[in-house]
Amino acid sequence: MTGSKLQIAFRKPEPKDLDAFYEQKNDPRVKCLLGGFSRPQSRRDLDEWLEFHRSRPDEVLWTIVSIIDQRCLGHVGLYKIDPISRSSDFGIMIGDPAAWGCGVGTQATLHALRHAFNHENLNRVSLTVLATNDRAIRLYRKVGFIEEGCLREAQFRDGKYIDLIAMGLLKHEFVDGD
Ligand SMILES: CC(C)(COP(=O)(O)OP(=O)(O)OC[C@H]1O[C@@H](n2cnc3c(N)ncnc32)[C@H](O)[C@@H]1OP(=O)(O)O)[C@@H](O)C(=O)NCCC(=O)NCCS
Repeated sequence: MTGSKLQIAFRKPEPKDLDAFYEQKNDPRVKCLLGGFSRPQSRRDLDEWLEFHRSRPDEVLWTIVSIIDQRCLGHVGLYKIDPISRSSDFGIMIGDPAAWGCGVGTQATLHALRHAFNHENLNRVSLTVLATNDRAIRLYRKVGFIEEGCLREAQFRDGKYIDLIAMGLLKHEFVDGD
């Protein structure tokens, strides 16, 4: 881990998070690392996004807050929870670049994975990540995710095609390092 560890907490997303998410999801430094967010996001888009995800029964989404000042740092979540295959997708966004490299992503990922395996009784969590996102790939490998494939040139960013790496983690492979 590169910086000092930031103390964080997790809670359900609330309408008051909208301003922070608006800044974060429109920040080019963040946007270029995320799949599916290449267009500008209006407050209304994000309002709808928040309401949609807050109420879905097959998702668990947390806002990540800094304990010291209650600042909203981003969100982490499990999506498409399937109780038959006991699997879900995973997504994370630390939207404040000043908080990168301070252990927030690691803590938030561990939090979501503990919930997946110990509370939702899932067996598998999967994700896709841009092949250029070295920080995220390092984090995912550290907690046990294994590369399962490459979706070649699946995203188009800044005039270039970029591969997406598909990664998966089974419950028995989880490295709970905190
Ligand atoms: C990717 C992300 C979740 C990582 O969270 P973070 O809080 O910045 O990362 P952490 O501080 O927990 O560090 C994770 C690992 O990455 C390493 N790391 C930090 N900066 C790095 C860099 N520039 N390149 C490669 N690895 C880096 C850390 O050293 C750490 O590994 P270690 O514990 O073995 O030393 C976060 O940066 C983020 O949300 N970025 C923007 C959106 C995004 O990329 N989302 C993921 C889309 S799939």
